[in-house]
Amino acid sequence: MQGHIAENTGKYKKGGAEMATMTFHQAKVVGIDTVFGASPQLINAMTDKAKICPHLQRHYDLPVEEKSHFLKTPEALYLFGNIPENVAKILIRGFLRGTHGVETIGWEKVVEYFRANSRIIPALTENPGTYSMLEKMYHFEEVWGPIDIYFKMSKAGGQALRNRYDAVNNYAIAHINEVLAKQNHCLVIDVGSGPGRNGIDMCLHNPIYRKRVKFDCIDIDPLAVKLGEKLVLKHKLANFSFIRTSMTKLNGRYPDNVDYGLLIGILCGLTRPERIGLLRKLKPYFRKGARLMAASLSEEMAQEDLLCAYILRETTGWGLQYPPLGELREVFEEAGWKYEGYFQDEPTRFYEIGIGIA
Ligand SMILES: C[S@@+](CC[C@H](N)C(=O)[O-])C[C@H]1O[C@@H](n2cnc3c(N)ncnc32)[C@H](O)[C@@H]1O
Repeated sequence: MQGHIAENTGKYKKGGAEMATMTFHQAKVVGIDTVFGASPQLINAMTDKAKICPHLQRHYDLPVEEKSHFLKTPEALYLFGNIPENVAKILIRGFLRGTHGVETIGWEKVVEYFRANSRIIPALTENPGTYSMLEKMYHFEEVWGPIDIYFKMSKAGGQALRNRYDAVNNYAIAHINEVLAKQNHCLVIDVGSGPGRNGIDMCLHNPIYRKRVKFDCIDIDPLAVKLGEKLVLKHKLANFSFIRTSMTKLNGRYPDNVDYGLLIGILCGLTRPERIGLLRKLKPYFRKGARLMAASLSEEMAQEDLLCAYILRETTGWGLQYPPLGELREVFEEAGWKYEGYFQDEPTRFYEIGIGIA
C-alpha cells in the first residue's frame, strides 16, 4: 500500500458528469431517473447545471493582475499561438474580465471555433459525463489539433486526470488485497465505470485477480459498455460483467454483498445534495465495513488552472463543481458512511479521493 491515513487529519500521509447539457446547443440526456435527495438531473450522473459553482465564481471575480499569469503557461501560449487571433482575443478578454461566455461580446465565435476544431468540446457539450474525454486524458487515445492538445497538456486535463487514474489504481489494488487477505473472493462494483479502464488495468498487473476478483462495471452509456466488452475480450478477462443500467437502479442486485466500490468521475458534476443523495442510495449495496473510493474535484483546480476551468465551462456549459478540500468527508458522513480519509492525484492535487466505509 502506498500510504496510510493520518489519524488526525484523515488524509493519507504518502500518496501515491448526467451533467448539464443545457447551454449553447441541444444536448442529449443519456438516461432518466431520480435519486433520493437529488435532483432529477442526476440522471446520467451530471445534467443541467446552468448555475456556476460559487467556489469557481470566486476565482472568476479575481482582479486581472491575479489572473494574467494563467495566460503565460506553456500550454496557454501554445493554445493562443495556434488558434486564430480574433478567437484568442475574445477568449482572453472574457477570461480576464471573468464574464460568462454569453455575456462576452463575440463569444459565439469562440464556441463555434472550439466546436469545429476539437473532438473533446462537442463530446462534452453533448454529454458532459462522457467517458470519451477520459480516454484521451488517460492517454489511451491520440488527440489532434491545438485545442485538444492544449487540454492534454494542461494541469487540469491530461496531467491531473492521468495522475488520478494512476493513484486510484494503486490505492484500489492495496484495498482489494486487504479484502483478499481475509476472504477468497472479492466483488467490486465500478459505478459509472466507462469502459472499465481501472479494473482492467488492475487485473493486467495482478494476474490473481482474474480468478479471485469479480468486477461489475455499471454504466448507462451503450458506447462505454461496448468498448469495455471489446477490451475484456481482447485481454481474455472472464471476471468482468458490464451492466448497462443506471447506478441508481441497482436495488435488489446487490443485497449488502459488495466488497469494494469505485465511484470515479461521477461526483465532479454533482451538487452537494446530489452527492449525498447518490452516496445514500449506494450504501445498502455494500457489506458492513466495505470501502467505497470516490473522487471529487476540488477548488484547487480553479486555483491552479483557472484558464482550463474557464474554457471548459464557457465553451461547453459543463457545470463542474469545485468544493473545498475536506467537503467530501461531510458529504460521506451526511450520507451515512464513515470516512476513512482521502488521498490525492500526485503531484497535481486537484482531486480529493475519499474512502467511505459502509
Ligand atoms: C466521466 S465518466 C467516468 C468513467 C470512469 N469511472 C473513469 O473514471 O474513467 C462517467 C461515466 O458515468 C456514466 N454514467 C453517468 N450517469 C450514470 C448513471 N446514472 N448510471 C450509470 N452510469 C452513469 C457515464 O456514461 C460515463 O461513462
